Parts: sequence; C-alpha cells; structure tokens
Amino acid sequence: MGMSWKKELSVGNAVIDSDHKNLMNIVNAIAQAIRSRDCPAIIQAFTSIEGWLCVHFENEERIARAISFDFSKQKPVREHLLREFQYLKSELISKKGIWCENAIEHYDRSLKDWLVDHIIKVDMPMKPMLQAIDYKFWPGWNEGESNQAAGHIASLYLNLHNAPAQHFA
Ligand SMILES: [Fe+2]
Repeated sequence: MGMSWKKELSVGNAVIDSDHKNLMNIVNAIAQAIRSRDCPAIIQAFTSIEGWLCVHFENEERIARAISFDFSKQKPVREHLLREFQYLKSELISKKGIWCENAIEHYDRSLKDWLVDHIIKVDMPMKPMLQAIDYKFWPGWNEGESNQAAGHIASLYLNLHNAPAQHFA
C-alpha cells in the first residue's frame, strides 16, 4: 500500500509540507515501478525525486535561515540519509528488475522509512519555531536571488549524482 499523508507528519510550514507530499507521491511511484519490475519507470522516478529533493533542500535551508534555525546539526543526518538513498537507488538499478517478492517488501519499506526518517529526524526539529509563525510563511525572493537559488539547486543536483553509493548502516 502506498504512503499517505497524515497530519502528524506536518512540520508546521505549507511549503515544506507540500514538498513532502510531492516526494511521497514520487516514492509511491517508485514503489509501484518496483512491484511491476519496470526498470525505465524506476530510473525515471529516481531522476524525478532527485530533482525535487534538490528543490526541497533549497526551500528548507531558505526557511531555516529566515527563522534563524541552526541547520548544522541536521546536516550529518541528512547526508547519511542521502547516502542511504543513493545506495538503494544503485542497488535497484544494478539488479535490473530481478528480485523476489520479499525484496519488493524490503525495498518498499526502505523507501518509506527513508522519507519518514527525513521528515522526522531532519525537519521535525524546526517545528516548534515554525509553529510560532504563519503556516504559509515563505521568505520570498529578493532581486537576483532566484538566479543564485537556481545555481545552488544545480550544484545540489550535481552533488547528489556524484555522491558515493555506499551503505552506512
Ligand atoms: Fe524535508
């Protein structure tokens, strides 16, 4: 069964919650492609989620900066989760659709746990500060900043693709 949004997963900000719902939909699409052993769909869904992850990370960091939330403690957790994600992706792609029913359950659970861990471990610590301000808070863009953000998103994307595919349990 696919993941579905529940209010306990809200971190208290409309942009971040909306990003998470979007990521959840793509995780569901990956899980569906794993079940049907559709390798082109798996690769396409991973490409999509990586692009959205970069946009999402930029949004989170921008909001964290605006509310003076110290994101430095979350960084190692995020990096660990990204390595887990890369490991899962490379394992799935290397197996070329050859996996048993038990493995489908394993991959399904791993993907869902990965996204929930991101929300709970990386983002939830921001919730008390976000709850003190408007749910629809967004810092907005100053002149020239959108180009900077696009550059930052592009570099996040490159880092994601160049990240070593190792498993750090
Ligand atoms: Fe997030």
